[in-house]
This record gives sequence, C-alpha cells and structure tokens, in this order.
Amino acid sequence: MRLLVVLLSVLLVVSGRPDPRPNLHGAQVLRVVPDASWQLHYLMALQMQGHYDFWTEPRAVGKPVDIMGTAFQLPALHAALTQLDLTPTVLISNVADLLAKSTPRNTEANRQMNWDDYQEYDVIQEWLESLASEYPSVCRVEDIGTSYEGRTLKLLTIGTGAEDNPGIFIDGGIHAREWISPATVTYMINQLVTNSEMYSELLSTINFYIMPSINPDGYAYTWSDDRLWRKTRSETDSSLGCKGADPNRNWGFHWNEVGASSNPCSDIYAGPSPFSEVEMQLVRDEISKRASTLKAYLTFHSYSQLWMYPWGWTSDLPDDWKDLDDLAQTAVDALTAVHGTQYEIGSSTNTIYAAAGGSDDWAKGVAGVKYSYTIELRDTGLFGFLLPPSLIIPTGEETFEGVKEVGYFIARTYGK
Ligand code: ARG
Ligand code: ZN
Repeated sequence: MRLLVVLLSVLLVVSGRPDPRPNLHGAQVLRVVPDASWQLHYLMALQMQGHYDFWTEPRAVGKPVDIMGTAFQLPALHAALTQLDLTPTVLISNVADLLAKSTPRNTEANRQMNWDDYQEYDVIQEWLESLASEYPSVCRVEDIGTSYEGRTLKLLTIGTGAEDNPGIFIDGGIHAREWISPATVTYMINQLVTNSEMYSELLSTINFYIMPSINPDGYAYTWSDDRLWRKTRSETDSSLGCKGADPNRNWGFHWNEVGASSNPCSDIYAGPSPFSEVEMQLVRDEISKRASTLKAYLTFHSYSQLWMYPWGWTSDLPDDWKDLDDLAQTAVDALTAVHGTQYEIGSSTNTIYAAAGGSDDWAKGVAGVKYSYTIELRDTGLFGFLLPPSLIIPTGEETFEGVKEVGYFIARTYGK
C-alpha cells in the first residue's frame, strides 16, 4: 500500500498535472430505467438529496437516468437502487480510466486553436482576438465584462450587413463540464468566419452574436481541479463551503419555481437570487441590448442529443410552439443527414423534466426571442461528459448543418 502511494506521487510529480479528480478512481456511472412513476419520483428525491452526481436527470418513465457513484458511494447507491426495484447497468465501469483517455494533450502545439482536442479558456480567448484581427470585414470581438474570478468574457459578432439585421444569439459552455459545447460553438465560428465567402448572402442578411464559453470560472476549474464541475465558482452564503450556482437555474423568469434547488451544495442550486451570477447578468445584458433584432437564441449543452424549445418551467407549450417545432425538425433533419446522429425534439419540460430559471425560457419569455432552443449535443451516454476529442469534428460538422438551417430560415423569413 505504501509503495503504491509513493508510486502514485512519483507519477504525479513526473506528469506535472494534478489529478483532475482524485476520488474518481473506481467511480462508475450506472444507468437505470424507471418503469413506474413511483420509481421516477424516488429517483428525483434521491437527486435532490445531492449526494450523487446525476449525469442525466430523471426524465420520465421509460427514459434512462445515468448516476455516478464514487467507489466509496457505490455500495450505498446499489442498495438504494435495489430498494427502488431498479436493476442498474454499468455504463462507465471506471470513470478515472475514461477521464485519463479524454484528457487533452498538454503540448505546445495544442496551445494553438484546433478541433482535434479540447481547448483551455485562454486559448479560446486569444483565438477569438486573432480571428477578429485577421477577418475584420466579417467579424469583430468585444470584451463585455469579467467573471466572478476576473476572467474576461468576449462576444464575437459575425455579419457583413446592417447592424439592425435580424440576429441569432448563440452561447456555449454554460455548464462547465460539457466540454463539447464550447468546442462545437468554436468549430461553427471557425467555419462561418474562415469560409465566409461560402455564406456571403447569409452573412449580409443576418448577424450572429456568439459567446462560446459563458461560465469561464467553472470551465477553468474543470481543467485545473474537477473535470466534472457543472456550476459557476461564486462564493455562496453556504456555511458548508459549497461554491457556485447552476447558471442554467439562475435566470430571472419563474426563477426557482421547479426543478431547481435552494441548497448551495446541490448541482442544480438556483443561486441566492435571480441573476446572482455575474456571468449570467452579462449575457442577459447582451441579449437585452439586441432584443429587438434577435429572432433566434441557441444555447449548447451536452449530453443526450436533444433539440428543445420552451417551456422548461411548465408543461404548457408556448402559443407558437408549432413554429418552433417545425424549425427544429428542419434543423435536426439536416444534422442527422451528416453522420446519422439521431435527435429528439420537443419542449424541454415534456422532453426531459421541468426546470425553471433556464436561459432559453428567459430569452423567449422576457427578451421575446421567438426561436429559442436548448441543444443537448452528443452523445447518449456511452462517454457522457467525457466525449473523446476525436468526436469534436464530427459533432461540429453535423451541428453546423443544423444551425445553418436556422440561419437560412431566419434570413428568408426576416431578412431585408
Ligand atoms: N440539461 C439542461 C439543464 O438542466 C436542460 C435545460 C432545458 N431548459 C430549461 N429551461 N429547463 O439545464
Ligand atoms: Zn447543461
């Protein structure tokens, strides 16, 4: 045993990287499928207790729920599931192993922006600046403010026409551990900007406003300390010392009414008040400023392969839900045509679960952006949040086709 400890510390010193989450050795992700509503409700209660990391949340009878247990927690987790008459299958048999495989190469070459690997916040930031200076006729970048820990948030505008052209607002990385989100959003930026001659009509008719990583403190923390961190990193009033709020429960529309927690230690903590998180204030203000021209809002998450529209706070549908459903269908058809990736479409409450305080609901309900979507990217649980870097480009390719359909539709429908 002592030898092992010595060996491990030597390894750590040699590799020079801190273990991204020490307690994940022997951790597993278990999948259960509730087939009765009482099981579903107990799973929801289990999630609310906040002991286990739910990689996906209890959705509905017949829909899988993925729960991670650390080696220490697994016996208790198995016991709890047995009590619920649920038989788990092991989705990921050793989270630490998978994590090691998906850890980015820490090389000098990888400090240049590329999509063969995931990128750190600073690399993304520098790249946005370099794009703006290389392609000044297509895009421009603005610093819109600083995060809780002092990181700069940037917004990239892509468009060659009038400032009051119809707009599409896109963000990524609201949840820190969903690394495929900023990777996909930056992939799409790169396509639009560096191949702009292919999209000249689109770009002269509409404007894209894009923020690839809107929870930078959380994202940085997933690189330095805890690969599976979800929330922001703000200091809360918790005497327990738990940090951060769920930025997608923090928006000021039906805030904290359902599917969110008031416990600062929960992964779905709504925060002490609506828009308590400075990063969400900043994004809100950028959307508000342009609300009169914005026709679509797209926010990228992972995982589950879902293209969802409001509402997330109620199972009722917006009056114009059919318009949103139709455009989602068009986008998903184009997405699926690329690599055959299947997506589900629907209102977020009816597709997954009710959860208030999401950015999508606010964009539609308060800012009045008609086509508001939350997109859950790849995969469906084989790798979950630890999607291998080799899947960034395929995910980018297919998602870009879907997003272009949204762009063409907005240009056709609202373009001058
Ligand atoms: N997985 C996302 C989340 O939990 C889905 C959000 C859907 N939108 C909503 N307003 N609930 O944040
Ligand atoms: Zn998310």
